[in-house]
Amino acid sequence: MRLILILSFCFPSILLANNLLGLPPLIIPENNLQTPAKINLGQRLFNDKRLSADGSISCASCHQADKALTDGLKTSKGINGLTGTRNAPTVMNAAFYTSFFVDGRSNSLETQALAPLTNPIEHGLKDSAAIIKIVQTDAEYKTAFKTVFKTNKITTEHIAQAIASFERTLIGGNSNFDQYFFGRDKTKLSESAARGSRIFRRKGNCANCHEISWNNARFTDNRFYNIGIGMPKLNEFLPQLKHTTAINSLALTNQQISELGRFQITKIPSDIGKFKTPNLRNIALTAPYMHDGSIATLAEVINYYNQGGNKNPWLDPAIFPLNLTTQEQQDLEAFLHELTSNIATE
Ligand code: HEC
Ligand code: HEC
Repeated sequence: MRLILILSFCFPSILLANNLLGLPPLIIPENNLQTPAKINLGQRLFNDKRLSADGSISCASCHQADKALTDGLKTSKGINGLTGTRNAPTVMNAAFYTSFFVDGRSNSLETQALAPLTNPIEHGLKDSAAIIKIVQTDAEYKTAFKTVFKTNKITTEHIAQAIASFERTLIGGNSNFDQYFFGRDKTKLSESAARGSRIFRRKGNCANCHEISWNNARFTDNRFYNIGIGMPKLNEFLPQLKHTTAINSLALTNQQISELGRFQITKIPSDIGKFKTPNLRNIALTAPYMHDGSIATLAEVINYYNQGGNKNPWLDPAIFPLNLTTQEQQDLEAFLHELTSNIATE
């Protein structure tokens, strides 16, 4: 704690914003410092359905406050009821990520924020000009942008900065697990959940990727792995995929292309089927699971890992049969239920 205080004294962009048990310091970019007016503006933009082609979709449609900032659907629904290929991840604690989207195709909250607005199956706006026009025609927004950014000329960068500032307030820590593990309050976990916490770090090998450090737990290492989830959808193409990276020559559907994961961004063959390790905070509230929403319950997720995942040529070596007993699987599930925290919007 003392170290963090010294750091925040030397570098004002490192905030003790949350002061919540179990979280690392929050780093705020120098060029987008937080102010209450900017956060407030970002919150309005995040919740504004006018920012979509048919006036029906806001960021909050898929990242709902009462569903721990997810939408409860297998894959998300955008304008005109169009569905995509991916499950909406939570935005809580996204402020601690080093890359964004399940394949890491965006490198800051600011660049991420603009992508859904012009995605044809999400907000469906035509281009940047269409976004700015909607904001410009609202007198209240004009005043707010002027107050925050000291200019009459609203740009998409301003919009992105305001939304990102709001997202940096969607922070959750101080769960029962944090109070037990970092706060050393042994009353906070049941015996079963406490055993589950050890299985998570040892026999289950979960913390290998869903990281827990000595003084905080991000539950993600911000890296990418093939744990086998979407691979059965690519079965018929596996022999060809092993020998060619000329993916365009294969007649893949949108869903199959989505399963290529990190490979789509890097074009490195060993990245086929890799996805970013998701944060597990509030995991009991964010079913269904995985990038394609293919697993309905936490018990089934644990069963999936226990069996060693879907075999495929790129399966990560850290995924192997775990031989957990029924009791151990129940303990692990009890533990995952203790990662729930309120979202602290300061
Ligand atoms: C139609 C549903 C939908 C809407 C609307 C939507 N999102 Fe998302 N969001 C998703 C899905 C699905 C993903 C994962 C897609 C992927 O990674 O390819 C995602 C990913 C994200 C991520 C990355 C999370 C991570 O784990 O890396 C952030 C941050 C985010 N959205 C914020 C926003 C913001 C800000 C808006 C509004 C400007 C928005 N979303 C609008 C469905 C939606
Ligand atoms: C090799 C790294 C790795 C290991 C080991 C690992 N995970 Fe994961 N985990 C991931 C990745 C990557 C995903 C996302 C996969 C996807 O979306 O296709 C994931 C997804 C999940 C999800 C779904 C999250 C969501 O929001 O949909 C849960 C729950 C989960 N893991 C729990 C566990 C548990 C419990 C263990 C131990 C038994 C474990 N993980 C071991 C990397 C790992």
